[in-house]
Amino acid sequence: MILVIDFGGQYNQLITRRVREAGIYSELISSKTPISEIRERNPIGIILTGGPNSVYDENSMTISEEIFNLGIPVLGICYGHQLMTHKLGGQVKTGTIKEYGKTDIEFDVQSTLFQGLDEKSTVWMSHQDEVVAVPEGFSVVATTRDCKVAAMENNERKLYGLQFHPEVKHSVLGEEILSNFIHKVCQGERTWEMKDFGEQKIEEIRKVANGKKVLCALSGGVDSSVAAVLVHKAIGDDLTCIFVDHGLLRKNEGDDVERIFRERFKMNLIRVNAKDRFLGKLKGVEDPERKRKIIGEEFIRVFEEESNKLGKIDYLVQGTIYPDVVESGTDTSQVIKSHHNVGGLPEDIEFELIEPLRELFKDEVRVLGEELGIPHDLVYRQPFPGPGLGIRVLGEVTEEKLEIVREADHIFREEIAKHNLDETIWQYFAALPNVRSVGVMGDGRTYSHLIALRAVNSTDGMTSEWSRIPYEVLDIVSRRIVNEVPGVNRIVYDITSKPPSTIEWE
Ligand code: XMP
Repeated sequence: MILVIDFGGQYNQLITRRVREAGIYSELISSKTPISEIRERNPIGIILTGGPNSVYDENSMTISEEIFNLGIPVLGICYGHQLMTHKLGGQVKTGTIKEYGKTDIEFDVQSTLFQGLDEKSTVWMSHQDEVVAVPEGFSVVATTRDCKVAAMENNERKLYGLQFHPEVKHSVLGEEILSNFIHKVCQGERTWEMKDFGEQKIEEIRKVANGKKVLCALSGGVDSSVAAVLVHKAIGDDLTCIFVDHGLLRKNEGDDVERIFRERFKMNLIRVNAKDRFLGKLKGVEDPERKRKIIGEEFIRVFEEESNKLGKIDYLVQGTIYPDVVESGTDTSQVIKSHHNVGGLPEDIEFELIEPLRELFKDEVRVLGEELGIPHDLVYRQPFPGPGLGIRVLGEVTEEKLEIVREADHIFREEIAKHNLDETIWQYFAALPNVRSVGVMGDGRTYSHLIALRAVNSTDGMTSEWSRIPYEVLDIVSRRIVNEVPGVNRIVYDITSKPPSTIEWE
């Protein structure tokens, strides 16, 4: 195991991820962790992360010098590099020139960290302070134009410092540099796989939650599904999942969720068919924001009513993943956090949280999901908004319009999959803009609904570009929808990016 000590930098969890990718288990721990505890955990290496402070700030995060005397290799990154220098008698100065972004660098390829690499490369810098004099016993092993000590090493004591961020992909040889530290310096052998993470979490959850009453709100989305299956493997029927079917799901989705979790995983699943209740509340409502609010609030009410029927709940499972975690990563090594109030749940519900995926990124959650036996289609499911088709039927939501959009969406998704486009398009769906237009079918005039197709590529949903789906595929989809879905006589394809549009239409 390699322990990553957290000094508050924005890429900290990314470092643990890179170490895990190199096949060694890694955890982010607080900089306040006592040295005795670090020693007890017996890591093969330690990484000190970057952070927002200057070593000279009054309340800057720090660590005992003892960390460098444990005989365990230490790699300091950015702030960690400066802290190592400061603690061991070198000199750090507030830089006059800020280095930020991609920077050209020259490595000493005789050095342990840079052996086997090209002498010149590009790295990612983000700092103001810099090391101007290395501590005794260290030598400078990389420089940039504005940073004389871009890297330093003391091979005898196995202490290394990098001013740049090897964990960021813009550092072209970052992976190799980390690999040299992990495999050559720390002598780590590839032993860790996602399977181990799952087993470890199952063990931890079992210890705290066995025999307790645990509840999970299952939506059929990737994160809550993986979290639920993991917890179920740990405590079996002590876990109850509540699946609120608001009647705004895609074709067959509700039944699929029920089948997968109840039949395949034999989970204790309560499906609440609340379609009428949601449609009742949405009757006559046209404003998109009000619709969203109504759906969100009603969801909580239904969940609350169902959970009240179960009596006192000890724990609630949340599928929170690392990008959702806003606080610093110092508590990411904990599985349980107490008395949280999340997802708009009322404050008077008393329970503790189990958030087994807090340390993982989305693609890691997917790998874990497959390890746990969750079907590929569910694990690689495209994003689907909480309010569901309620915001894809524009204006008032009615059963008739939902039926139309559900069928059109099903055809669109079927053709995308048939033409092998499903793994390259990030999100694709049909919307019903609540527009009727004149058409002709057979010999008769029609006055029917318009369906809009939307397909976008994005990495995080914050921005997106419309997908260049081949005309032939759009043609097939268009023909099929007007022929197979009653009440539709016109199809349009949305060719706006985000911004200025949003991905959803409401
Ligand atoms: P927009 O429409 O804001 O969507 O460009 C960006 C991404 O977020 C999804 N989305 C939601 N997801 N609850 C969710 O869980 C919501 O209320 C919600 N609204 C939009 C949308 O599908 C897209 O992937």
